[in-house]
Amino acid sequence: MEGSSFKIFVNSLLILLVILSNTKPSLASRDLAPKPNTDFIRTSCSATIYPRICFSSLLRHADSIQTSPKVLTATALNVTLAAAKSTSALFLNLSQSHGLKPREIGAMKDCLEVLSDSVYELRESIAEMGKLKGSDFQVVMNDIETWVSAALTDEDTCTDGFEGKAMNGNVKNDVRKFILNIAHMTSNALALINKYASLHV
Ligand SMILES: *[C@@H]1O[C@H](CO)[C@@H](O)[C@H](O)[C@H]1NC(C)=O
Ligand SMILES: *[C@@H]1O[C@H](CO)[C@@H](O)[C@H](O)[C@H]1NC(C)=O
Repeated sequence: MEGSSFKIFVNSLLILLVILSNTKPSLASRDLAPKPNTDFIRTSCSATIYPRICFSSLLRHADSIQTSPKVLTATALNVTLAAAKSTSALFLNLSQSHGLKPREIGAMKDCLEVLSDSVYELRESIAEMGKLKGSDFQVVMNDIETWVSAALTDEDTCTDGFEGKAMNGNVKNDVRKFILNIAHMTSNALALINKYASLHV
């Protein structure tokens, strides 16, 4: 009983997130606006390990990205941070919900901790992006790569924490899905950062 009501709860949260993330301007205003060029985003994303999630997460920012590798890279970090923050909020919510075993709550709390580290590291990397104008491009770039790699490591720690624990299969799968999504977005951002860095050698 507990497992199934929890599953329903998770599913309604998932649906809510999907609805929120798909909120778009009305059809009319979309038709009037010129179609942004998405080829640049598609080509850039083809250099990442998860090109589909890369493309879908950047598509709605096509207007501001245009064909700028710098804006593309900064946007990839920003959407990753936003996703990490909303996943954090979701996990906080889940960890306070009924129907979880103490062991599951423990794993969720461990995960929340590393996720908040990862949010911090992504924030730092975004702040560094703002310093890229100077002459020490490579130094700043190295810092950014270090922050984002650390974020990725933290996210992996979270998925590992859920392995091997006696956990309800559904909860485990849902949690994994969310963390993997963040980890894939982070990995993509890192690939785009590396690509952007290589343009400046
Ligand atoms: C990313 O977020 C930072 C901090 O909120 C902001 O200053 C910057 O303009 C954003 N960059 C893009 C490309 O949206
Ligand atoms: C969790 O999310 C649900 C649905 O969005 C909301 O009604 C509830 O108040 C939240 N609970 C906590 C503890 O944030």
